[in-house]
Amino acid sequence: MNISNLNNHNAIHVEVKLKPGNTRIEAIESQLRSELDFIFENNKNFNLSGGEVPLNERSGPTIQTHVESIWIDENSSPRVDSALKYHIYRPHQRNVEVEMFQGDQEGDSEEVPASNHWLLPSHSFVGLWENLIYEENLKENLLKFAESSLVFSAHNVNQNVICCNRIVLLHGPPGTGKTSLCKAIAQKLSIRMLSTYKFTHLIEINSHSLFSKWFSESGKLVMKLFTKVREIIAQPKSLVCVLIDEVESIAYARESMSGQEPKDAMRVVNALLTQLDSIKESPNVLILATSNLASNIDLAFLDRADIKQHIGLPSVRAIYQIYISMLRELMRVGMIKTEYIPQYNDDNCNDDLLCLAKRSVGVSGRTLRKLPFLAHAIFMHNVNDSIDLERFIQAMKLALEKHLEDQRLLQDKAN
Ligand SMILES: Nc1ncnc2c1ncn2[C@@H]1O[C@H](COP(=O)(O)OP(=O)(O)O)[C@@H](O)[C@H]1O
Ligand SMILES: [Mg+2]
Repeated sequence: MNISNLNNHNAIHVEVKLKPGNTRIEAIESQLRSELDFIFENNKNFNLSGGEVPLNERSGPTIQTHVESIWIDENSSPRVDSALKYHIYRPHQRNVEVEMFQGDQEGDSEEVPASNHWLLPSHSFVGLWENLIYEENLKENLLKFAESSLVFSAHNVNQNVICCNRIVLLHGPPGTGKTSLCKAIAQKLSIRMLSTYKFTHLIEINSHSLFSKWFSESGKLVMKLFTKVREIIAQPKSLVCVLIDEVESIAYARESMSGQEPKDAMRVVNALLTQLDSIKESPNVLILATSNLASNIDLAFLDRADIKQHIGLPSVRAIYQIYISMLRELMRVGMIKTEYIPQYNDDNCNDDLLCLAKRSVGVSGRTLRKLPFLAHAIFMHNVNDSIDLERFIQAMKLALEKHLEDQRLLQDKAN
């Protein structure tokens, strides 16, 4: 294993995404690298702090034929000794494979989706990382953690001396992008580590749908699921990211169990912990877990997580960025007239978008991402022409007020 490739921290990462096609990367790699060197050597003032590299007819023939986009990582924080590191990849076009489980109980022929399996980098997750917006460096720090934990395991660091379980837990309110961020981290790792791990698999365990149905058999199902994980781990040059979404539904706190269910529930938690302890012996596995209710998670699981990162509701600055990304998309497709949108500036009191962002504090990223659609559906559905930016922001404001009012009514009902 080429461990030196894992040590990525000081590099400026340049991600080179190839167009779909059958040409083997190895066949064009050396030509591509020299054309890339040429681009960067001849653009000394290139913005190495991040963004997309514009391609044109001077970009070199191999780049023109095969490359779809070149992206410099936003937070590469270049230093004098930083070297450019090219990551040349072609997203897999294969769709997700869903594994179904059928209950053993008599007369129960219904199946539920137990796990989803992607080969990474996948076309399904292109752009996911860039579109998740958090406070400074949160994403990058999580990625560095994931990389470091794989470096430790690749070096065979003695677990009894330095403990690293390669388990990351993201917790926080629903709709804050935890599941998406886990997928985005796995996708990034698959691109960054291509020279070490030729294949990266993402296996998402649907804890919730699985364990609400056959609770009594769930212990057995955990075993079955991990049998599959273990088969893939055994493949050479494969990295396996296991996403346990809403982990509180499997690793429900044993401490707070009472009444009827404890035996089954305890079997599930025990099965999960046993499996986690056994797969951690393999260096090529990373567990990514999410939870909306961290206080309900079993302490033994919490204890195993090396990082427990809280993911909160977006700040005004993050909301503003999310709004910009959505408005730019509507401009790209021509639904809104292309206009200049100012960058975030907290003092700009004439900025309608800033007012909207400030009013949106407390709303989840998931709801924010629906707002343009609601604005259009409720207030603009019969407009055929391209809409003025100002008018559209007004419609979004009305849609937000409607959402806040609906929330209030729901809460009143609940009380
Ligand atoms: N901080 C954020 N920046 C951008 N998009 C976000 C953010 N938080 C949530 N979203 C969007 O909300 C949607 C739901 O995210 P998801 O990963 O399912 O959240 P969670 O797992 O926390 O419930 C996704 O489409 C995601 O892109
Ligand atoms: Mg989720």
